[in-house]
Amino acid sequence: MCGIVGYVGSLRADDVVLEGLRRLEYRGYDSAGIAVVTEGTVASAKRAGKLVQLETALSESALPASGTGIGHTRWATHGAPNDRNAHPHLTRAQSIAVVHNGIIENFARLRAELEDADYEFQSETDTEVVAHLLDSVYDPATGLAEAMRVVCRRLDGAFTLVAIHADEPGVVVGARRNSPLVVGRGDNENFLGSDVSAFIGYTRKAIELGQDQVVELRTDSITVTNFDGTPAQITEYEVTWDAEAAEKGGYDYFMLKEIAEQPQAVADTLLGRINDDGLLVLDEMRLSDDDLRSVDKIVLIACGTAYHAGMIAKYAIEHWTRIPCEIELASEFRYRDPILTRDTLVIAISQSGETMDTLMALRHAREQGARVLAVCNVNGSTIPRESDAVVYTHAGPEIAVASTKAFLTQVVAVHLVALYLAQVRGTKWGEEIRHHVEQLAQMPSKIEELLTTMEPVREMAASMADAQTVLFIGRHVGYPVALEGALKVKELAYMHAEGFAAGELKHGPIALLEEGMPVVAIVPSPRGRSILHDKVISNIQEVRARGARMIVIAEEGDTDVEPYADVLIRIPAVPTLMQPILAVVPLQVFACALATAKGFDVDQPRNLAKSVTVE
Ligand code: M6R
Repeated sequence: MCGIVGYVGSLRADDVVLEGLRRLEYRGYDSAGIAVVTEGTVASAKRAGKLVQLETALSESALPASGTGIGHTRWATHGAPNDRNAHPHLTRAQSIAVVHNGIIENFARLRAELEDADYEFQSETDTEVVAHLLDSVYDPATGLAEAMRVVCRRLDGAFTLVAIHADEPGVVVGARRNSPLVVGRGDNENFLGSDVSAFIGYTRKAIELGQDQVVELRTDSITVTNFDGTPAQITEYEVTWDAEAAEKGGYDYFMLKEIAEQPQAVADTLLGRINDDGLLVLDEMRLSDDDLRSVDKIVLIACGTAYHAGMIAKYAIEHWTRIPCEIELASEFRYRDPILTRDTLVIAISQSGETMDTLMALRHAREQGARVLAVCNVNGSTIPRESDAVVYTHAGPEIAVASTKAFLTQVVAVHLVALYLAQVRGTKWGEEIRHHVEQLAQMPSKIEELLTTMEPVREMAASMADAQTVLFIGRHVGYPVALEGALKVKELAYMHAEGFAAGELKHGPIALLEEGMPVVAIVPSPRGRSILHDKVISNIQEVRARGARMIVIAEEGDTDVEPYADVLIRIPAVPTLMQPILAVVPLQVFACALATAKGFDVDQPRNLAKSVTVE
């Protein structure tokens, strides 16, 4: 939610900031703006709409050259997405400009106080209070960083703030609480970004700001303090991917690139996790074997696509470890007073590591004494930092708003966690674990093979641009796949789509069916769990008998499904628990092609943002 960039150095700040905003636009695209310090004032430009609107405005009227600048790309919370509410927000004298990500919960009271002191507001945003508050406390003797510390101590809620002052050329100040902000250390230049992609074209040296910290950037120094002014410890790390990984690389959309990257992403998730004996090693598992042996309940928390990965985790963990496992939407978790003890292991799944609902749920779990294991993609982000242990998915940057490779790698990572628990607790023999791990190791080549067969799926999607509704059904781990397929269609093609447990259809939703309505069924393997397979075939028959158009996803060699499929999509045969890793791929391709056929921007679907950093 909202992308923030800051730069100080010898290059033109507006160019560097604009480039950073291009890379961060996936975080929000309601408006964009830039401000730079120049000759005793702050110059700015901002426009509602996607970044291209700002680029057009800047090409008509450029900002003055400056080496100090900030920028913002917005996902609107307070105030409509128009020019007035676009960031940066400036003081009336144009001495201070500020950009913000998050929500300042006490802004109404602060605004009333500032209005009483004759400050005039130009926007409806919560952010503007920060510009005026900075102005009200600014003292040239102590500077902008101290003003920021004073202001932050008065704010409630979640915020990343970045500001510049007309009297301090060569200084950019940032602050964070509950929202992300990363520093990039360059050579005689320094950067700020909501994530490292903002400056990855310039440096791979990064410093994650901690909770309640303020950073002052100059060309040759980075000074981090806590909100109370005490010096803060900083840990620098090297980003493991480069600028190319954050580019489209010849694809029309990031989503297409990320779908194609899935074999490699899954291989990277598995890399280094299997020792010479074929057993699992999870390096970042900071919980001891004794801790893991004492776990008597597991609770999975996540949102959206990550929640669907969590649903699959429940099946795998319970099957392999026999530990009772619950899965809950992170946004609901803490409000029902969940029963948590020291022996509860909470697994928080999040691609970004910044999702506020998940972060708040994990904090609640830790406050109640439970231990938290994060399954996360973004190195050093808040959720793994605040957890007791982490298993990184190593999927590389995921930029498209719709999650694809993050989902597959989350499913693989939770399988690893489940098998690791089984290994430590002895609920599976070493031989069995080796066997499952070997099957996971075959996934990259199977996904690769599957991706070469997707043309008919694209054609089918293109022919369905006028459909009103698509339903998805599945049982067991096919149920979360059905939910994920429906979510992709909703978020990308803006169509009514719903996923159902196949057996639940007859309890109500079957009334939705109309002649020709497309229904996608995910059919489990006929091998091993054949009752499950047969039950889904029965459900398909029930649906087909009511005139629906059946699109069936079934494994190679499953001939039983052939009489009931209007369209048959084949996936390689794998064990049932691992089937979601393949079955979801045609659904991603389908939703992407459907949205493209309808003329929508699949990377930046309306009303959405990649990282949801508000509750
Ligand atoms: O970064 P996270 O994995 O915590 O994000 C959770 C959801 O916001 C995310 O999966 C969302 O549902 C995706 N846009 C779905 O494609």
